[in-house]
Amino acid sequence: MSEPQWERTLTVTTAEQTHALAAAVGGVLEAGDLLVLTGELGAGKTTFTQGLGEGLGVRTGIISPTFVLVRIHPNLQDGPRPGGPDLVHVDAYRLESAAEIDDIDLENTMDTAVTVVEWGRDRVEHLSDSRLEVELHRSVGGGGALPATGTGVLDFDTDDDDEPRTIVFRGFGPRWAEAPRLLETTTSSEGGN
Ligand SMILES: Nc1ncnc2c1ncn2[C@@H]1O[C@H](COP(=O)(O)OP(=O)(O)OP(=O)(O)O)[C@@H](O)[C@H]1O
Ligand SMILES: [Mg+2]
Repeated sequence: MSEPQWERTLTVTTAEQTHALAAAVGGVLEAGDLLVLTGELGAGKTTFTQGLGEGLGVRTGIISPTFVLVRIHPNLQDGPRPGGPDLVHVDAYRLESAAEIDDIDLENTMDTAVTVVEWGRDRVEHLSDSRLEVELHRSVGGGGALPATGTGVLDFDTDDDDEPRTIVFRGFGPRWAEAPRLLETTTSSEGGN
């Protein structure tokens, strides 16, 4: 399953737009969905996940120690999707392999939750026969020419200033046979015939 069924590229100009786009995506996700987030340090993976949480209507603001790898955000009865999926948020940055992913037992929660894995590429694909990849880039309009991970000079500044981002979505497997309609609002990089 190395070839995506489709790819859509959107650009945003502010962190709030990233959040809002993710919230819209969160509105169409279902229990069992796996999202793999890729992008250099500070690209906006956590910002995107927070937006997903809003769209899913899960509890936010759970205070976690820095080195917790998995956070479970339960769905809220008074949120936009009562009875909907929980959000399981994984940061796989420190995990080296698929084997280490297996140690944290995501299978237990996958059926009732949306599972979002920052730095998940090449580590979590085996968890599901379908996945939605979300790739965030700090450069705009590069058409994927730049490296996806931080091989260049890393900027460790906490950058709260709004900057443009390119966000590339790719669908893999039967769950993502078609792109969600909300991704069709702007130019897409590939037509679906
Ligand atoms: N268009 C944008 N989209 C998302 N974040 C943006 C945007 N413009 C500026 N930012 C800022 O960039 C930072 C992104 O931080 P965030 O923690 O979401 O990144 P991350 O990819 O999760 O990083 P890490 O690799 O450390 O986990 C935030 O401070 C956010 O306010
Ligand atoms: Mg993060």
